Amino acid sequence: MASVNIDAQVAAAKLEVSTEGYFPAPIKGEFYQKHLISAEQLTSLGELDELFKVAAVMEDIVKGHRRVNLLAGQTAVVNFAQPSSRTFASHVSAALNLGMKVVAMQGADAMSSFAKGEGIDDALVAFYQTTGCSVLVQRHPEDNSALIAAEAADKYYSEKLSVINGGSGKAEHPTQALLDLRTIHKFLGGQWENLQDFELTCSGDPKNSRTIKSLCSLLAMVNRSLRERGVEANIKINLVAPKETRLSSTEEGRTLIDSWKSSPDGSPNLVVNEYAEFDDDLFTQTDVLYHTRVQSEWFEDQDEFDSASSSFRLTRELMDRANALREQAGKKYIGVMHPLPRINEIERAVDGLPGSLYHNSQMPEGLYVRMALIALLRVPPGELRFWMRRMELTSPLKKLKDSLLRSAGRFL
Ligand code: NCD
Repeated sequence: MASVNIDAQVAAAKLEVSTEGYFPAPIKGEFYQKHLISAEQLTSLGELDELFKVAAVMEDIVKGHRRVNLLAGQTAVVNFAQPSSRTFASHVSAALNLGMKVVAMQGADAMSSFAKGEGIDDALVAFYQTTGCSVLVQRHPEDNSALIAAEAADKYYSEKLSVINGGSGKAEHPTQALLDLRTIHKFLGGQWENLQDFELTCSGDPKNSRTIKSLCSLLAMVNRSLRERGVEANIKINLVAPKETRLSSTEEGRTLIDSWKSSPDGSPNLVVNEYAEFDDDLFTQTDVLYHTRVQSEWFEDQDEFDSASSSFRLTRELMDRANALREQAGKKYIGVMHPLPRINEIERAVDGLPGSLYHNSQMPEGLYVRMALIALLRVPPGELRFWMRRMELTSPLKKLKDSLLRSAGRFL
């Protein structure tokens, strides 16, 4: 039997689809019936406030073990063509928590028709026609994979189907950026103004990490938006990486850094600096350290990977020293974040530090933020506001808090 070159078939299918000139509608104050493909779609702090407000209600629902059926009758397809644990599980869980039916596919690169060479646009049509889904969450190794899906959804189903990017190549991971930002926002006390002089240090693999890229894009918007509100914001981003994983080592990386450093009108925005290693000054200045694994899947040269991945590791000793430096400078301990999975770049003895946010903050935030996002994309705004009000009024956690406050009041 003659064998067929699947790679050539896939390449041919790709030629049929171009995303040139396409960008999904920006959120611009209205999430309903849109996609979330890129952090760049978010344009103002008001949009983040809205998302975080809904996320707070979702948090209350999850913590109170409440059953809701906000999206009963609707279906979410979660189609992942790259490995995933957290992003996959939390999207499935988010959709189920909202009362949706879920059709979930892991290993789609090997087990779905992608393996036969089917294009992303045709796969989307297949999911819509077989499930009637209103949400498609997709993860795929191509940088423009989510754009292809969103463009196909716009073309065939206009507003009936929202595409959520669960990670596209090395380019974007916007839902991770949102959960990361809510984690940072809470860590700094829940006020945007507290981010005025915020300093984020991203380390490990800025070149290949889509989570670092999406988070920094979002922070650039936050800095711009704070200035528009009259706050003198000076957020700083430090990128710490060995030469193999330096963001500025690629043309795309340099363009991205430039886009964070200035506003579309050309005025300067936040400050971005690159470093080859940590030093005491950097630790003293860093409010949150966002460490990432060196991503083996994108390396062609084993020696390069070995050299990059051995370059630094967050040990307990290092973090204790960093926190001592922070204390001397009169600052709060460092928040340590990681999108996970961790290989060995954070020593397990770091997990118990009060600033370690990757297990107990980022992961639960992923669930709340994704529930909020799905609700905002698929429930008409008026209906969602009404539902939120009802949820707040009937919240058992709120009732408990109120009654505790009342009894405390009697003794005061
Ligand atoms: C990240 C990803 O897939 O980009 N993980 C995640 O979604 N939380 C980071 C990684 O794989 O290293």
